[in-house]
Amino acid sequence: MTPLFQNITLIRQEGIATLTISRPTKMNALSVKTLEELQAAIQEVYDDPAIKGLIVTGEGDKAFVAGADIAEFADLTQVNSRKFAERGQELFAMFENCPKPTLAAINGYALGGGCELAMACHLRVAVESARLGQPEVNLGLIPGYGGTQRLTQLVGKGKAFELILTGEPITATEAHRLGLVNHVVKDLPELRAKAEEILRKIIAKAPLAVEMSINCINAVFNEEENGYYTEANSFSICCKSEDFKEGTKAFLERRKPNFVGK
Ligand code: COA
Repeated sequence: MTPLFQNITLIRQEGIATLTISRPTKMNALSVKTLEELQAAIQEVYDDPAIKGLIVTGEGDKAFVAGADIAEFADLTQVNSRKFAERGQELFAMFENCPKPTLAAINGYALGGGCELAMACHLRVAVESARLGQPEVNLGLIPGYGGTQRLTQLVGKGKAFELILTGEPITATEAHRLGLVNHVVKDLPELRAKAEEILRKIIAKAPLAVEMSINCINAVFNEEENGYYTEANSFSICCKSEDFKEGTKAFLERRKPNFVGK
C-alpha cells in the first residue's frame, strides 16, 4: 500500500510514476523527513511492477530542490555528519541503480542536494529558467550526497573544479552545453511533455534490456567491477530472454514487438 507522505507525492499514470518534492515555501529543501519519504518512495518504485519508469520533479515553478535543509544543519556534528552523508549517498544510489529508468524534470533551482539528486537520475531535462549548482562552499561545506563524484563524471574534472570551488550556479543552457542536462525546454508544460516523451520511448523497449543497459553504464564508474565482463554477462542474460526472441522475430515479421519483461 502507498504510504502517506507529507513532503512528497508519488503519482502513477499509465506506467510512469511522478515523484514530486513538495515543500514549496522552503524551495523544496530536503529535510531529514523528506529524505525518509524519498527512501520509501524509491523503494516503492523498485517494488511495484505497475511502475515502469520514474520522473522526479519539484512542486511549483521556482525550485526543483534548493539543497539539503540548512535549518537542520545545526544538529550536525563531526560524528553524525558522516552517517548523514552516507545515508544520503545510499539513498541517491538507489535512483542511479534503479532497474527502471529515472528522469529528473528540473523545474527551477537544482542546488546542492537538488543538483545531486538530479545527477543521480539517469536522465535530466531542465526548464530554461532553472539554475544548477553546488553552492556548499558558501556554507563552509562540500557536496555530501555524491556530488563531487557524479558532477565530475558528467562534466569532467576541470568544470567540476570550477563549479564546486566557486559555488556559482549555472543556467540550464550552460548545463546543457556541459552535458549536465540532456535537454532544455521553454516552460513547465514543455518540461512535462519532454520528460514523458523520453520515458515513454524507453518503457516501450524490452525492460530487461533497459535494466541491463543501466547496470552496464553504471559499471563504468564502479572500480570494483569489470564493465566489459558485466556487459558480456548481461548480453548473454538478454539472449536467453523471451523478449529477445520476440524482438528479433517482430523485426523480421515487420511488426511491433510485444515485450513481456522476461
Ligand atoms: N534549506 C532550508 N531552507 C531553504 C533552503 C535550504 N536549502 N533554500 C531556501 N530555503 C528557504 C529560505 O530560508 C526561505 O525561507 P523563509 O521564507 O522561511 O525565510 C524560503 O526557502 C525562500 O527562500 P529565499 O532565499 O527567500 O528565496 P530566493 O528566491 O531569494 O532565493 C535560492 C532562492 C534558492 C537562490 C536561495 O534560497 C538559496 O540560495 N538557497 C540555498 C541554496 C543552498 O545553499 N543549497 C545547498 C545547501 S547544502
